[in-house]
Amino acid sequence: MKFETDFHFVFRPGSATLRPLLLLHGTGGNEHDLLDLADAVAPGRTLISPRGKVLEHGMPRFFKRLAEGVFDEADLRRRADELAGFVNGICTHHGVQAPVALGFSNGANIAAALLALHPGLLGGAVLLRAMAPLKDMPAFTLPQTPVLLVSGGQDPMIPLAQAERLAASLRQAGAALTHETLPTGHGLTQTDIGLMSRFLSAQE
Ligand code: MLT
Repeated sequence: MKFETDFHFVFRPGSATLRPLLLLHGTGGNEHDLLDLADAVAPGRTLISPRGKVLEHGMPRFFKRLAEGVFDEADLRRRADELAGFVNGICTHHGVQAPVALGFSNGANIAAALLALHPGLLGGAVLLRAMAPLKDMPAFTLPQTPVLLVSGGQDPMIPLAQAERLAASLRQAGAALTHETLPTGHGLTQTDIGLMSRFLSAQE
């Protein structure tokens, strides 16, 4: 039986013992964007890759924003709930474990929202260029959930103070957080790839 959803998505089955990866693309991306990256950093995992449903001038995103770095929080919460429903549904349908999110930019921000608003949905997360997605981060608990946050020290879109606010909130939740700040901007580098590979292999 086919899994019914109104998300466009890719589901690619892989290892039954390793956690799947939930791939969450950046603004203007789609469900195919992060497949090669996932194969490079964590070969053999089941991949679940939805496309964000919001369109900003034709560019898919996971939630609306009012300006760069200023989010429509009501929409963000609604979209996080909707995405959590998709993740629960597809994992139950295929009988797979809670996935590890791997998100870039807007995808990393919705992954951070899933961690805060739906604790327990994810088995871990790799957040590439993420910031605190809500002005008032709720109190939540994520005991020992492994999270890798990689920020760019010169990222013009994600002020470091906002990345640090997210890091503080994750630490307070009890997550096993590694926060690395690289001497780079918004784009990913070879160093990001190395950090992701090491982090994901350590979970195997
Ligand atoms: C966001 O809107 O989530 C951030 O500003 C990053 C992005 O432009 O996607």
